[in-house]
Formats: sequence, C-alpha cells, structure tokens
Amino acid sequence: MTHQDSTHSAVLLLNANIAPMDSGIAPESFIHNGAVLIENGLISWVGKEDEMPSLPTEEIRKIDFQGQWLMPGFIDCHTHLVFAGNRSNEFEKRLNGISYKEIAEQGGGILSTVNATRAASEDDLYTLAKKRASAMLKNGVTTIEIKSGYGLDYETEKRVLQVAKRLSESLSVNISKTYLGAHAIPPEFKGRADEYIAMVCQEVMPRLAEAGLIDAVDVFCENIGFNLEQTKAVFEQAKALGLAIKGHTEQLSAMGGSELAANMGALSVDHLEYLQESDIKAMSQQGTIATLLPGAFYYLRETQLPPIQLLRQYNVPMAIATDFNPGSSPIASLPLMLNMACTLFGMTVEEALQGVTINAAKALGMENQVGTLEVGKQADIVCWDISHPRDLVYEYGVASPKMVMHKGKVVL
Ligand code: NIG
Ligand code: FE
Repeated sequence: MTHQDSTHSAVLLLNANIAPMDSGIAPESFIHNGAVLIENGLISWVGKEDEMPSLPTEEIRKIDFQGQWLMPGFIDCHTHLVFAGNRSNEFEKRLNGISYKEIAEQGGGILSTVNATRAASEDDLYTLAKKRASAMLKNGVTTIEIKSGYGLDYETEKRVLQVAKRLSESLSVNISKTYLGAHAIPPEFKGRADEYIAMVCQEVMPRLAEAGLIDAVDVFCENIGFNLEQTKAVFEQAKALGLAIKGHTEQLSAMGGSELAANMGALSVDHLEYLQESDIKAMSQQGTIATLLPGAFYYLRETQLPPIQLLRQYNVPMAIATDFNPGSSPIASLPLMLNMACTLFGMTVEEALQGVTINAAKALGMENQVGTLEVGKQADIVCWDISHPRDLVYEYGVASPKMVMHKGKVVL
C-alpha cells in the first residue's frame, strides 16, 4: 500500500473488509472481500469484489488492503477547537474540590479562555488549532465541527471562525463552523445579558453569516449560561438567516432547553445529562439528534448519567463527540470517547460506532455527504488493521489508521 497522493481521478480499493456503517455492525452489514470504486472524490460503487461491474476505461489507481478493514472517516460533531490559553490551574483547583460552576462564577472558566483568545493573533490561533486538528486526523477523524464562543465580540469571533475556515483549506478534513456567541456573557456586558443577546442577534450573527463563516448557531442554555427566552431569541434570528441550530442543553440542570431547541428544529442537542422525558418526546418528533459528550462527563466527574435507555425507547439517534475544549473536556481523542460512551454511559458498541459516523453526520446535517460508505458520498475512508470494528471501542490506544483518505485522496 503506498501512501502517495494520486493524480488519477479514479481509485479502486480492493481486498478489504468493509463496515459501511449504513446499517449497524451486525455480521450481515459487513462486506468481506470488498471493493470501493472512487471517481472524482466520490464513492461510485461499493460491494463484493466478485460482483464488481465493468470498470471505467480511464486509468485507475488500485490499492490492495490485504484483508484490512475500511470504515467511514470518523466525525467529531462537537468541538471548541480554536482558543488560546491554558486552564490547567483550574484542573488543579477542581481536584481540590472547587466546582466548575464555582470557578465560572469567580470569573475563571470560559471567561479566562475568552481573555487569552482575544489577545491572540489569527496566526497564533491557527497554529494552536492546527496542532489539535492534526491530532484528530491521526485518530481517523475526517470531519470536525468547530464552535466559536471564546471571542464573544465580533472581531474575535470572526477571527476564530476564519481560523476554522483556514483549517478546512489547509488540512484534509471537512470543517463545519458553528457560531456560539451565546456561550458566556463577556465582561463588558456583565449584568446585561439581554443586551448582549441583542448584539449577538442584530449585529454579530448577520455579519458573520454574510461573510459565509457560519453553518450553524449554538447556545449554552444553562443556569450559568443563557435562559430559555434568550436562547429562543438567538435561534429565531439564526432561522431567519437560514442557519441550522443546535444547543448545549441539560448539561448541569434541567431547563427544557432541549425541548425548546428540538421544537425549533435543532439538528442536535448536546450534553444531556439532565434530559427529561418531555425533551426526548420533542426530539423524537422533530428528528433532533442526541449528542453525548462523555469526555465532559468524565472530566467534570459528573454523576448524573444521560438517559440512554429512554433515548433508545423513543428511537432518538445518538451521536458522540469529544467536546474538545480547555475547561470541561481537554481530550482530543474520539477513540477514547467510543470507549467511554460504552463504559460510562452503557451504550452498545454498535451505538458508539454509529455515534461517530452516521449519527454524527446527521447531527451536522451532512448525512448526504459523509458518515457512511455508500454510493454518492464523499470518499472519506479510513483503513484500520483490526480484526473487527468493535476492537476500536474495546482496545483503546492500540490501533491507529493505516490509511486516511479524504475526498478520494490518501492524506495519511
Ligand atoms: O461544552 N458548556 C459550555 N461550554 C463548554 C465548556 C467551555 C469551557 O469550560 O471552556 C462545554 O462543556
Ligand atoms: Fe461544548
């Protein structure tokens, strides 16, 4: 197997075990002795090698995978990847018994990262973020959602989202950009949350949307974040601008933010430890994805578990992400989240793997482009030297991708 990039417009992947992830991981969903034909960066055929149709006549680059496994590139559908500063001091404080909430109330937490991010140049932010995104790529991640929210003012939010855009141009990953202006009240608006929300809606969001820097809009709906009314105002404006919406909801308390977001058509609601049945009903009716973030649960030493069984009962698809950020989840490893989703949240191996592929794609509204190995989708494909996909969930820290392909090009 060579790792060189190719100028051929067609690539044929041969002699592989394939887990397309379009219908779970039961034995019948796998393709053994499988092949994938890629044309112009898209999957044009996938199936058993001996059922392959006659090939296109142009020159084809062939790669023999010698029985190794091919899976869709993983999708990290919730990260806060672009920021400056370091909060290891808060980590130590929390180990000494001070809570996340107390630190936030003392002006630390998100606001300390806001100060550091505001002081950083675009190039500095880019260098920091590139290192993090590259680490993710090495774990087989080919799509990353990146939220702003550590700038809060227009200039810094714009700088952060521009860095996200630059990453999508310079690294071989898909980047989905989310505006999280309603992440915290900036110091200059202290005690004036409604005024800050008015600025987010009327000034910042329309300008960033106009600049093509936003795919979706997120709100931290929480007793240390924004209330339901403020959350609604932000979502209404996002929808008026034609942007998708998603929420940080029910992380620390049950506020009904998930129900509100779902009823307004949110793609996903995220965290969800305090989710109630009323939220889940709305999510189920509206097709809102439940994005679970075991890294934040673990790191904050939360004890309230998200209601996985109830989500199953209502057939709400579950996604899993790192929530990579400097405060509540400084963990960039999506493979570790696969394991934690099972060990901490009691998810099945199949649910975990669907959570970083097909359901994560849905959480970003990208299910027509990525998340499974199916005809018409982008050829974002990872080769793993494993004996079964469940190894990726079970044995943490051993397997690394043998190959990462993005839009039909070998990038790792
Ligand atoms: O997703 N909950 C809000 N935002 C982040 C944490 C941000 C921070 O502590 O810097 C989260 O957990
Ligand atoms: Fe988050």
